[in-house]
Amino acid sequence: MPNVFDRFSLKDKVAVVTGGVGILGGLYCRRLAEAGAAVVVADLDSEKCAGLAADITADGHEAEGFSVDLSNEASVKAWARAILDKYGRVDVLVNNAATKSPDFFAPLGSFTLEDWNKVMAVNVTGIFLTVREFGPSMAERGKGSIINVSSVYGVVAPDQRIYEGSWYEELGGAINTPLIYSTTKGAVIAMTKYLASYWGANGVRTNTLTPGGVSSGQNSMFSEKYGARVPMGRMARADEMTGALLFLASDASSYVNGQNIIVDGGLTAW
Ligand SMILES: NC(=O)c1ccc[n+]([C@@H]2O[C@H](COP(=O)([O-])OP(=O)(O)OC[C@H]3O[C@@H](n4cnc5c(N)ncnc54)[C@H](O)[C@@H]3O)[C@@H](O)[C@H]2O)c1
Repeated sequence: MPNVFDRFSLKDKVAVVTGGVGILGGLYCRRLAEAGAAVVVADLDSEKCAGLAADITADGHEAEGFSVDLSNEASVKAWARAILDKYGRVDVLVNNAATKSPDFFAPLGSFTLEDWNKVMAVNVTGIFLTVREFGPSMAERGKGSIINVSSVYGVVAPDQRIYEGSWYEELGGAINTPLIYSTTKGAVIAMTKYLASYWGANGVRTNTLTPGGVSSGQNSMFSEKYGARVPMGRMARADEMTGALLFLASDASSYVNGQNIIVDGGLTAW
């Protein structure tokens, strides 16, 4: 048995991160590469993917950008083929991408079906398309770790009161958590359990990583109201998600399958 820290190593592993240039995805790519993996940075914008991969490479690690539109079946197929052609395998698949539709923060009474379907297409169908391309070859090789990213709002309902007076400049104003977000994130947890049972006997482990709210530019009103809902009294820092990610990605979690690691400062504990 290798020493305890070696069991967290991702040396000689290929890791794919969807949503790889987002707030959390970018950090996931960096930390997986620092742990030794060759990282595929996967997101919509090919220049951003290549840019982050170049930064990681400049720091002495291995990464390459492979852009993809997860809502497009042909794009996912071509993308997966290109990755498998280059590396021959995928050891770690992090299904982290999620989208916000054009009218994502509209009240439920006027939320459009078009927006609903757009979010479903990335957050749920995108995971189906991705695991359909990579899962069978992981099962054939007899190993792999799939990590599906959910949210505390796939586990519990949002407290609607925290959105009064909320503001997030980068997202253009007042924010809330729409029904489609909770719906897709709940589905992610169900998909994890299904996949854990489907490929578990083949050595492919599937788990959920569930972040709580991460501080990333929300106004102080929101941060305070959210923080007051958390036993630890504050929002998460992005890097606080990466310990659980490395655990799930590596052999340190070799008998963990079908589980949900909730990194939320205790929000869902009371
Ligand atoms: N940030 C948080 O507070 C928080 C909390 C709980 C859960 N999460 C979850 O963590 C994950 C990452 O969150 P984030 O805050 O980094 O989000 P983000 O919006 O910064 O990143 C998501 C990424 O997904 C990409 N993406 C969207 N549509 C795509 C498509 N069709 N094809 C390929 N890529 C696409 C986006 O371009 C973006 O880079 C999400 O699944 C989110 O639901 C985040």
